This record gives sequence, structure tokens and C-alpha cells, in this order.
Amino acid sequence: MFKLNDNYLKLPGSYLFSTIGKKVNAYAAANPDRKIIRLGIGDVTQPLAPAIIQALHGAVDEMGKAETFRGYAPDLGYDFLRNAIAENDYKSRGCDVSADEIFISDGAKCDSGNIQEIFSLDNKIAVCDPVYPVYVDSNVMAGRTGTYDSASETWSDVIYMPCTAENGFAPKLPSQTPDLIYLCFPNNPTGATITKAQLQEWVDYANKVGAVIIYDAAYEAYISEEDVPHSIYECEGARGCAIELRSFSKNAGFTGVRLGFTVVPKDLKCGEVALHSLWARRHGTKYNGAPYIVQRAGEAVYSEAGKAQLKDQIAYYMNNARYILNGLREAGYTVSGGVNAPYIWLKTPDGMTSWEFFDYLLERVNVVGTPGSGFGPNGEGYFRLTAFGSYENTVEAVDRIKGM
Ligand SMILES: Cc1ncc(COP(=O)(O)O)c(C=O)c1O
Repeated sequence: MFKLNDNYLKLPGSYLFSTIGKKVNAYAAANPDRKIIRLGIGDVTQPLAPAIIQALHGAVDEMGKAETFRGYAPDLGYDFLRNAIAENDYKSRGCDVSADEIFISDGAKCDSGNIQEIFSLDNKIAVCDPVYPVYVDSNVMAGRTGTYDSASETWSDVIYMPCTAENGFAPKLPSQTPDLIYLCFPNNPTGATITKAQLQEWVDYANKVGAVIIYDAAYEAYISEEDVPHSIYECEGARGCAIELRSFSKNAGFTGVRLGFTVVPKDLKCGEVALHSLWARRHGTKYNGAPYIVQRAGEAVYSEAGKAQLKDQIAYYMNNARYILNGLREAGYTVSGGVNAPYIWLKTPDGMTSWEFFDYLLERVNVVGTPGSGFGPNGEGYFRLTAFGSYENTVEAVDRIKGM
């Protein structure tokens, strides 16, 4: 008789966004005349930039001709894309990352879930609280997190690093020593960032205690302030302790196209074993590469036209972010984020819980956001709004909230 991976049975509740989806669908079915504005899930709404569409069309045409048809992609990615990334995302910022340390994938969600596979089950993970849920849930599925305590909503074998208003939503170094440290800056869900000097402290700490930092820079393109690092490899010593995850979803609107990459520097070793070779082995065995067409679209992100068009796209979303920040502040809310990230993190009013405020907003003004408690216990009493809507919807949503 077969047996299940019963780690899956330990997972509490359903994935946050399915719960939100069910609630919103039920409300919409009961109130078909209402216009619901969704500023909940972090999905983009602007169409793909013309330079990307052009590259997609070109690559599709190539696939239709025998001379230019491509079959399986190289499993670690096409050189044209790896070179473009190494040049534009790293070399231009003074980071020492070579093209063969870049592993192309179909997105950062998969990579952030899969990366834990190359580490022993008895590694202890440290995560921010609140946190992008995939880091914890993928470790639960692997059996690395111990037992769940429903009262505190925490796992016995996970080190939680509270990100609160008091510490500016930037975690302190943990008192217990972790083996794997998940950091995400600019942060989802809080929209907070840390300075290069602060990140350097993490790198120094990881090198001191022999930990690996898994650095999720999915929102790097939204950084507007000078002293905020775009990559962990801007810090000295990061090649010996850090893996970086990147995505094309938020900088180029590829949430439905699917493309991302992971950097594993060759200096990152456990004894004599390079993590680079383990991840290459894992990638080669379990993954057959992102589509050629999509990788050509990714290359166009780095073309002159692509860069200019995407700069405008990001400016569009950040204009929404400003509108939300200013509007909610005027309405008396305590808000943060929204300066180097497309997320606005607000304190729920009148001591409401995150889910109470979710229901209140949905029912009173038909606006959907994300309850902070869905990202961890320290998210309770907070609420996340995204700047990824259209400008018109964003303005309407904020004006509705202001009018409550
Ligand atoms: C922190 C973080 N990492 C990764 C992802 C997923 O990125 P991708 O679309 O490349 O899978 C998200 C998406 O919301 C995210 O917020």
C-alpha cells in the first residue's frame, strides 16, 4: 500500500491566495452588480512592453523554420540570456558574477521552493516574520520545520526574525544560529528595504557562523533610493555565503510568461563541495529549461528599447504606490513601504485583525487587499495593498477607502 509524504498533511490551511480568492468569488457571486477592485495578489496588469513582444514574435517565427528551429534548451539556460544578465544585472553594478553562475528557470517561486533540496534536512532555517509563505511551506513539505503550534502559528524548528514597526521591518540578527537564512529585499509583504551597510552585516554574520543566505531580489527593479543594494553581491564576501534569486515577473511583467534565475557562485562551498555543482545537477535532472521563445523575450529586457520601456512601466506602478501612500496617510492610516517596492503595508485601524479589515474593506468599499496575518504572526494587525493595479483602479480604490 502506498504511503503519502505526510509532511504535506502538516501544512495548516490552504495557500493564502486561494483563501482570498474563495472569499472574493463568494462575495462577487452574491453581489454581481458591485465593481470589485483587486489590490491583493502581487500580479502585474500592464501589457508586455513592445520590445518584448517583438522579441517573442521573432522567436516564434524562428521556431517555424527548419534552419532556426530549436528543441530542448540547454538546461542551465541559453548563453545569450546568461551573458545579458551577467553584464547588465551584475557587471554594471560592480558585482563579480559570471554567466556560468547564472541558472535560468521559469521563475523565482519555483527556485525559492526548490533550492532547499540541496541542503540537508537537519539544517535550521531562519525566516523573516512576516514572510513570503513559499520559503516556509516548501521547507514544511521537505520535513525540515518540526511541529506546528496553531496557537502561536509557528513551527518548532524554524527561527523567526520579527519585522515590526519598532525595527523598521528590518530583521535583527537571530539569537539562535541558523544554517539557512531567507532574506527578501525589497520585501514582500512589507515593502521595506535595508541599506547596503545593513546587508553587509548579514553577509559578515553568515560567513562567521557558516550559514547560507538565500537572497530573494525579485523586486530589485523597484529600488529608488541610492543606498539600497540591488544585489547581495554588492557586499564583500557574499560570493562565499549567498545564493540570489531573481525574477522577470515584476520588472518586466512576466508573471504569465514565466522566467527567472538563480545565482550560485562557485566560491560557495560546504567543505570541498561546491553548491554550484549540486544545483547544476538538480537543474539538469529535474528541469528541461525555460522555453527558447521566453528566453529571447528575457534578452529583450536588456535591450536599449526594453530598458527604456520597462523603466516607464515601473514608474507607472510606483506612481500608483505614491498615490496609495499619500492617500492613506491623508486618511489617517499608518503606512510604510511603497518607496522601493510596489507594496504598501498599513496598520489596520481601530485594532481590527487583518482578516476583519479584509472583510470590512471588501464589504464596505469592494476593495481587495491581503491580510498581513497570512504572512506570519507578526503580520497580524497589518494589511498589504499592491501598486500593480491600473492607475484608474488604484485612484478609485484609494478614494473609496478615504471616503469610508
Ligand atoms: C518575494 C517573492 N519571490 C518570488 C516571487 C515569485 O516570482 P515568480 O513569478 O518569478 O515565480 C514572488 C511573487 O509574488 C515574490 O513576492
